[in-house]
Amino acid sequence: MNSPHKPYVHGRSDREAERLNYQASKLAGLLHHDTRYPPGSRVLEAACGVGAQTILLAKNSPLAEFISIDISPDSLVKAKLRVSHEGITNVTFRQADVYHLPFRPETFDHIFVCFLLEHLPDPIRSLKNMKEILRPGGTITVIEGDQLQREMGGNALIGRELWHLMTDAGFTKVAVSPRIVYADESRPEYVEGVKNIFIAMVEGVRERAIARGLLDNETWEKGIRDLHRTTEQDGTFCYTFFKAVGNKES
Ligand SMILES: C[S@@+](CC[C@H](N)C(=O)[O-])C[C@H]1O[C@@H](n2cnc3c(N)ncnc32)[C@H](O)[C@@H]1O
Repeated sequence: MNSPHKPYVHGRSDREAERLNYQASKLAGLLHHDTRYPPGSRVLEAACGVGAQTILLAKNSPLAEFISIDISPDSLVKAKLRVSHEGITNVTFRQADVYHLPFRPETFDHIFVCFLLEHLPDPIRSLKNMKEILRPGGTITVIEGDQLQREMGGNALIGRELWHLMTDAGFTKVAVSPRIVYADESRPEYVEGVKNIFIAMVEGVRERAIARGLLDNETWEKGIRDLHRTTEQDGTFCYTFFKAVGNKES
């Protein structure tokens, strides 16, 4: 079982909080443009972290009511501050574990999950738990990337497995759309994003990766140099996020 004290691959430093906020704002169009919830609907945001996606969700659907949960009390404190700083009033925060959700069956009209399943040892169990508290006819939206955390108990290729995970968890009409970030010299704002989102993310797990013996220092340094090369004049960078929407049958 996950606990607030379980190490989380990216850590919970202020720098990582900043990276998550930057990532959410830069990728807002790519990941959020097609997510809107109707007035009056009750939406669970599972694993809101420091509130980076919460702000976008709440602003895009100002008349929906969001309950945003996370297992980490520290992240929730940051998320609350951020949301109140933005003057957002349609979000309530609560500490909760997706493996033990403290809600009655069929409480929510919709559920939104971003960058959570990739960290969980048992993503299908968490999806089934979320299905319990979703009303029939409601939707679940899940956004994940492919990442590096198999060693920490997560799934490094989870993005491309979303369709199967969600279908196996019992959701119907699951539709997955790949969202591609592509950068070369002609798109300088994307090149900046590659540095501040993707390279910063990998650099942020350096100590942990080396301490766990995933690779040696020299291999690590070469990998980081190669990543930086993708942002140079003769480089290109390509990364795919996956966004899935599924339904709970009425
Ligand atoms: C990469 S962050 C994503 C945060 C946010 N969704 C975003 O996109 O910025 C993953 C979050 O999952 C939370 N988390 C990990 N295991 C959890 C669990 N079992 N229940 C609830 N939250 C969990 C972590 O505390 C962390 O805040």
